[in-house]
Amino acid sequence: MTSDLEPLLRSLRVWDTELPAFDPGAAPAEPLPLFVEWFAAAVAAGQPEPHTPSLATTDAEGRADVRTVMLHGADAADGWTFASHAGSAKGRQLAARPYAALGFYWPVQGRQVRVRGPVRTAPAAVAQADLHARSTGALAAALTGHQSETLASLDELERESRAAWDRAQREPDAPVPSWTAYALQPDEVEFFQGDARRRHVRLKYSRTENGWLKELLWP
Ligand SMILES: Cc1cc2nc3c(=O)[nH]c(=O)nc-3n(C[C@H](O)[C@H](O)[C@H](O)COP(=O)(O)O)c2cc1C
Repeated sequence: MTSDLEPLLRSLRVWDTELPAFDPGAAPAEPLPLFVEWFAAAVAAGQPEPHTPSLATTDAEGRADVRTVMLHGADAADGWTFASHAGSAKGRQLAARPYAALGFYWPVQGRQVRVRGPVRTAPAAVAQADLHARSTGALAAALTGHQSETLASLDELERESRAAWDRAQREPDAPVPSWTAYALQPDEVEFFQGDARRRHVRLKYSRTENGWLKELLWP
């Protein structure tokens, strides 16, 4: 079957630019410093929105789901952190199956990072403090609420959002009880460096009882 999409798809290329080198032999013993290094390099290279990974979860029946979220942090204590509403689809999925994956793609450098592991819910105060340190828009969006529920009309969204913006401006510390911070503590992190000749370099870190195991993977 042909469609208008196919010629467009065939006209597009990946890894068509100068890509950085990656020497896995010089990679650190743990994935976090390498993630921080690659993240800073993505920002320096002008990669738009490098902090917006895909978050994959599964529902109670084991069916996969995925969406974009904002990365709130990555450190040794908490792992990779993000936030959302507990009552959203992802919030319910994480409550039923507290395990997730984050996928970062930074095409400016042909780099991909995959992070997988168990997810825990941070104390409520952490989520509220994180939210109140963000923009008025972020608070207004959180206050609007009802995430993933069916919306009757855009007029309704307009009304609720207007009220939420007013409140966020009046009350910058307004609590949003459903807003939840999640922390993914990885047991696997994979770094992929694209290569124009398709000799992509993949380095996978796996958590073991004796620290992190590093392995190369066939591309
Ligand atoms: C760039 C970008 C960043 C986003 N960041 C978040 C976020 O940090 N938290 C969130 O709940 N939704 C975020 N969203 C919206 C989600 O992708 C998604 O639409 C929403 O969370 C509902 O997902 P769910 O029904 O699977 O729970 C973001 C969307 C985009 C495009």
